[in-house]
Amino acid sequence: MRTQVAIIGAGPAGLLLSHLLHLNGIESIVLESRSQAEIEATIRAGVLEQGTMDILSNAGVGARMQAEGALHHGIELAFGGQRHRIDLTELTGKAITVYPQHEVIKDLVAARLAAQGQLLFEVSGVELHGVDTAAPSVGFIHRGEAGRIEADFVIGCDGYHGVTRPAMPGEGRQDFKRDYGFGWFGVLVESAPSSEELIYARHERGFALVSTRTPTVQRLYFQCDPADHVDNWSDDRIWAELHARLENNDGWRVNEGRIFQKNIIGMRSFVSTPMQSGRLFLAGDAAHIVPPTGAKGMNLAVSDVALLAQGLEQFYRQGSDERLQGYTTAALKRVWRAEYFSWWMTSLLHTFADATPFQREVQRAELECVVSSRAMATALAESYVGAF
Ligand code: FAD
Ligand code: DHB
Repeated sequence: MRTQVAIIGAGPAGLLLSHLLHLNGIESIVLESRSQAEIEATIRAGVLEQGTMDILSNAGVGARMQAEGALHHGIELAFGGQRHRIDLTELTGKAITVYPQHEVIKDLVAARLAAQGQLLFEVSGVELHGVDTAAPSVGFIHRGEAGRIEADFVIGCDGYHGVTRPAMPGEGRQDFKRDYGFGWFGVLVESAPSSEELIYARHERGFALVSTRTPTVQRLYFQCDPADHVDNWSDDRIWAELHARLENNDGWRVNEGRIFQKNIIGMRSFVSTPMQSGRLFLAGDAAHIVPPTGAKGMNLAVSDVALLAQGLEQFYRQGSDERLQGYTTAALKRVWRAEYFSWWMTSLLHTFADATPFQREVQRAELECVVSSRAMATALAESYVGAF
């Protein structure tokens, strides 16, 4: 098989890149290890920045997001028994939208299939060859048969555990990493939302987050041991923990309902540089990870591939690789801002096992500063809506 751009991974990064290239008349093939049903059912992110919405809308895949997504003009920070609203729109002129990642995936898969895009699911054994030459290729197995794609470029959109980052030539690489030693326990609950806006709560027992999905489904998270197992958590234990962490002086309580999904994710910050070598480029979680507190992961995946699509368009239309050469520098600017913000939000709101009493008081004081200083609230709001 021959194509212009071989894309590994059909997450938001890989699917959107393939679609953006198609809009510019550039051919691609996407190889995905999981099934279509699986990628369309995996529950992950929920928060889209305005810039992400604009990219999806301008690419013609935003209709359902606009109709079904919920626009949020503020978030709440809860601590010391009180809730404090951060008015995102008043402070920045912008808002965010809650629209689940798997719905974005469904919209992108539908657009690719409608355009007869080549999207191979349940592929295994992906191997990269010749990425330091002008004629790279990708070997793989699909439906029991070995295949090979000859391409001009290979783009690694295969997430943190993928095969493309390890295939980057080792020389000159630098990885930056921080493990937090805690994770998030996430649940999906059949019940009306407890709050119109997202609530980020700091409590002595640990962080908790109240988010939504639809008018009948809530998404709730609480800080946990990443090595814990969902089977250790009965529904009653989960509700007791959420009520304890979200208890409030004004008597507000989180709505209970049937819990129909539980999962645990670890929290880490990670950046691998450079994001390119020869004809191989990385985008999204394949190149960097943020802890979910700042809600930035999917937004970064989208902004990476928007840059790559521009670079590839310039390459094919004008024969210039100037933008492609500048990809790492351009992408990392935004990536590091998001890394900083996600680390900061995580540090502000979680309990750390090794925190001294002094550090705990400073953390509480910092939260008080954020909700009482317009300047600090504006800094949080600007980063949260992605105005950087
Ligand atoms: P992925 O979505 O990981 O996609 C990679 C794809 O590659 C997968 O489909 C995988 O199956 C495939 N693949 C892997 N290896 C191979 C291989 N060898 N061959 C072929 N295919 C392969 N981000 C936000 O912006 N806002 C949020 O609110 C938010 N909340 C989150 C909450 C949780 C609980 C979690 C876990 C994440 C959250 N994120 C959030 C992060 C966001 O989900 C990720 O950053 C995003 O999925 C990254 O997209 P991606 O396309 O780079 O990678
Ligand atoms: C959601 C996830 C996040 O990481 C976050 O910061 C806010 C909301 C969510 O899944 O709804």
